[in-house]
Amino acid sequence: MAERVVGDKTQIKRIKLHIQGLDENIQGGIPEGHVTLVSGAAGTMKSSVCFNSLYHEAVAGKNGLYISLEQSAESLVNHMVNMGYDLSKVDLVMVKELAELKNRMDGIKSGGKGSLIIVDIGTIRKEIRDVNTDENKSWMNVIKNVVKKINVEAGCPLFVLDSLSALYVLSRFENPRIELFYIFEFLRDLGITSFLISEMPLDGSKYSEYEIEDFLSDGIITIRLTTYRRQVVREISVVKMRTTACNNDIFSLEFRNGQFQALYGGQNPLL
Ligand SMILES: Nc1ncnc2c1ncn2[C@@H]1O[C@H](COP(=O)(O)OP(=O)(O)OP(=O)(O)O)[C@@H](O)[C@H]1O
Ligand SMILES: [Mg+2]
Repeated sequence: MAERVVGDKTQIKRIKLHIQGLDENIQGGIPEGHVTLVSGAAGTMKSSVCFNSLYHEAVAGKNGLYISLEQSAESLVNHMVNMGYDLSKVDLVMVKELAELKNRMDGIKSGGKGSLIIVDIGTIRKEIRDVNTDENKSWMNVIKNVVKKINVEAGCPLFVLDSLSALYVLSRFENPRIELFYIFEFLRDLGITSFLISEMPLDGSKYSEYEIEDFLSDGIITIRLTTYRRQVVREISVVKMRTTACNNDIFSLEFRNGQFQALYGGQNPLL
């Protein structure tokens, strides 16, 4: 499903972030098929924000794939349960061995509850490392094959890669400009709406490792921690979003009663 030209703007379908207060400021969501960088320092809730969108879309019946390269599937799921997500509302599929993938695929159907498929490459990597020490090059292909297989065979319109930064450690790109270009093209050709999580240095000096990702991506969402007196606040902003009239202001990001909220900020509180 490659990109196509639409007749008018109402034909642009969008995927909600399910962040109250932010979706309304990006014309309802991210255009389908976009590749979006979600950039932030450690602990800024990057994984939670991406999971949140996949979860709500799965509740509404859409399948989503979450590939975790560092955090184990159990750790991710426990975090989400602790945050209050009711996982009985989705069909949770945890894949920890690539060989399982084929069998599990039959259980992933369209219609009814959507499947939230978590592929834990960290565990798979540990198993493979003992057998093969020179697997660097093939990791990118392993990930591409998983995405393609699940997207084509099970019908999976949403994808999260957690994280791009971990992929760089695994795959050691020799020519990032070219290799990254092909990854972005691969995702666009599939037409899969993708969130690529990117770790930001603490000083917030860049959104991505090579900075080419900023130009290749259709959208950039950034989350930062800022201190106000002795309080630490999370702030979210949409730096860019192609095909979207978006509000680039900085919003405070809060998670309350099981719901992400972006509160309109951008102004210093009155002292
Ligand atoms: N209700 C909650 N339940 C659990 N954690 C919460 C809750 N509210 C906020 N948090 C915070 O969420 C943070 C972790 O979120 P998440 O794992 O999504 O962040 P991250 O940016 O992906 O982190 P990392 O850089 O480690 O990958 C923790 O610092 C935790 O304190
Ligand atoms: Mg994370």
